[in-house]
Amino acid sequence: SATTLYNYQGFWHHARQLQGVLSCQKHFQAQDTDILLVTTPKSGTTWLKAILFSLLNRTRFQPTQDDHPLLSNNPHTLEPFLEPSLYLKDENPDLSSFASPRLFSTHLPYISLPKSVQDSKCKLVYLCRNPKDIFISFWAYTNKFRLQDVGTNSLEEVFKKFCEGVSLYGPFWDHMLGYWHESLKNPENVYFLTYEEMKEQPDLHLRKLADFLGCPFSPKEVKENMVDAILKICSFDNMSNLKVNKEGKLPSGINNSAFFRKGEVGDWKNYLTTEMVERLDKICEEKLDGSGLKF
Ligand code: A3P
Repeated sequence: SATTLYNYQGFWHHARQLQGVLSCQKHFQAQDTDILLVTTPKSGTTWLKAILFSLLNRTRFQPTQDDHPLLSNNPHTLEPFLEPSLYLKDENPDLSSFASPRLFSTHLPYISLPKSVQDSKCKLVYLCRNPKDIFISFWAYTNKFRLQDVGTNSLEEVFKKFCEGVSLYGPFWDHMLGYWHESLKNPENVYFLTYEEMKEQPDLHLRKLADFLGCPFSPKEVKENMVDAILKICSFDNMSNLKVNKEGKLPSGINNSAFFRKGEVGDWKNYLTTEMVERLDKICEEKLDGSGLKF
């Protein structure tokens, strides 16, 4: 059924999505200049995608110009996802119109990345988030689609599964650890960042991202407030209030507004019971023990 999850290479997928993953593994040919944004669902993909797009295209499109593509497009429609919709036909989609460097985003676990990605010099940016906030964001998101595909979705039910590792692209801890270890082994190609860090010191982390991606801000750009301008156009307030994000839909039919809820750190405090917090904290402690990754 549409709600059944299947385990592949240790991670959970819907049938349709899994088909895309397999086809993507078979067909995708990475280029050394490619940039991949990787996240678990609800970690802030939409936000960082907008930021990376604005950063990489800042000479083509000034972030202050009033016909900047982000003002009339949802970030998810500007560049494709690596899976699943692109690959559902089990063939190689035509990506020839893409400007270089190509920017992709994906939720694939490290182990499931196409071999050509692992073998190439392309750069991966992994955006992580506190699992308690991921969970609340995910629960709220799935509830918007209650009628279509997820049955009843009480907080308790979804929480129980999340803690057992059964969520889209879960277990979340294995997803995070896969990229965490890779970023320690291979810091030149894998950059590990958190939603919380990005919220706390956005300008610092945007400058670091630019350095990592080989397109550092010049002194002239810094003087002209390029960093601030990018952060401003990508801010929650700006993006969530755009007509395209209030009224538009993705090709898949999902409302663009579904990707904008609160955009804050710590909203879990308004939903989780003390027992739930203790359970999730304990899981994180056990699963991440010794890795150096902490929440
Ligand atoms: P909340 O549900 O906690 O508000 P994803 O894009 O990976 O699906 O993640 C969605 C989460 O990112 C949602 O979190 C959403 O509100 C938040 N978000 C979307 N755009 C954002 C932005 N520009 N700045 C900060 N957070 C943003």
